[in-house]
Amino acid sequence: MLPDSRILKLRQQHRKTITEQRSSGGMGINCLVLGGGGREYAIAWRLARSDFASNIDVVPGNAGLALFARVPDFSPRDIARLEQHVAAARIDLAIVGPDDLVADGLADTLRRTAIAVVGPSREAAKIEWSKTFAKELMREAGVPTARWESFSDAAAAREALDRWKGAVVVKADGLALGKGVTVCRSTEEARTALGSPPTNSGPVVFEELLEGEEASLQALVDGETVVALPPARDHKRLGDGDTGPNTGGMGAVSPTSVIADEDAQRTADELIAPVARALVARGTPFRGVIFAGVMKTRDGYRVLEYNARFGDPEAEVTLPRIGGDFAKLMLALGEGRLAEYVREYPLRTSQRAFVDVVLCAEGYPYAPKTGAPISGLDRLPEGVYAFHGATRAEPGGGFVVGGGRVVHIVAGGATVDEARERAYIGAEAVQFEGKFYRSDIARGEVAVV
Ligand code: AMP
Ligand code: GLY
Repeated sequence: MLPDSRILKLRQQHRKTITEQRSSGGMGINCLVLGGGGREYAIAWRLARSDFASNIDVVPGNAGLALFARVPDFSPRDIARLEQHVAAARIDLAIVGPDDLVADGLADTLRRTAIAVVGPSREAAKIEWSKTFAKELMREAGVPTARWESFSDAAAAREALDRWKGAVVVKADGLALGKGVTVCRSTEEARTALGSPPTNSGPVVFEELLEGEEASLQALVDGETVVALPPARDHKRLGDGDTGPNTGGMGAVSPTSVIADEDAQRTADELIAPVARALVARGTPFRGVIFAGVMKTRDGYRVLEYNARFGDPEAEVTLPRIGGDFAKLMLALGEGRLAEYVREYPLRTSQRAFVDVVLCAEGYPYAPKTGAPISGLDRLPEGVYAFHGATRAEPGGGFVVGGGRVVHIVAGGATVDEARERAYIGAEAVQFEGKFYRSDIARGEVAVV
């Protein structure tokens, strides 16, 4: 019997010959994107602008994606069905979008089918799903971050409040879809946070409260190779002026003055490359996208968190800015040839700015009301795009609201101001009952492209 690793190698070699034969015929590769929100729309949209991508499947996708991609009807968690699809549709490349699928180790499952996969192993993705692990790795790798302490549960954390006196950031240690963090200005607030979900069950991390401006730095990571993408800024709070509850993201802009485009690679070399090397040294190399949530403080950049995937809504404003052949770039990353590929084709960033304004359904982020018909999607000006986040097809044609972050209005411009203005024209043109959005996305962002 051949060992499993040997069989995997043989299958990979076999795959490679298939891919080469197909690409030499000019047919390109078959791509599979896992996930179904605005980020996955942006990934598929960017792939669709590459001649090298022949088929694009998005699972589970959303109704809007059916405009230009295939949306096979099954859950990405149905592993048997997924493996069957990979074989039947002759998928060459898979990109795993959302944090929960990454944390569940879907990339490991896909890699066993011997295709190219953009997405880390479950072990490497621990930089996102365990805050304690991420903090330990940052310490080991010498990445600047907030002072911190881990606790096994809220009771243990409560006992440490005397020592932590005053302001403290309380974090639930695990995937919490951006909702597990409470910034507390006093011990009283921290006590309340520790008594409420999700911090009241499971491990907890305390962090020093940092002050400064935030930005999102994403990089393609293949072992020790780290290639920075253009930095972006998202807007997490529900209301204008950064008020109200945290959300999955109400809008985004790229470029940003917090980390200028020309500083992106240097900053990624400082804040992302050391943990990429530490993961290699631990025998769990990362292959996919590392996203660092960064705060620019008076003392320099500090990493607030890592994510093991593209950001949402950051992908919506950064992927349109990436030049070159995106499918080839993703295939190189998925096959572990990123260093070689970028040596030959250095990553180019477009000089245009992009802004994303998210149109939300009434009740978001708590209980979004679904079902309202959407109009105006066909009335967007040239160069303004509707990246569907949560839409459903109406039986008679057209789309209805299918979830909280319904449509991302994404617009480009020669400057941030121009992109922003155009995004808001689009945001007004698209209509549905209960629609709301922030009116200050990218306002005050003075970055020049
Ligand atoms: P995280 O999910 O860890 O990025 O935290 C979500 C949000 O909480 C961040 O975008 C920050 O706005 C805030 N936050 C997290 N950690 C800190 C910190 N140490 N100091 C100040 N704000 C923080
Ligand atoms: N925009 C933050 C995230 O994707 O987690």
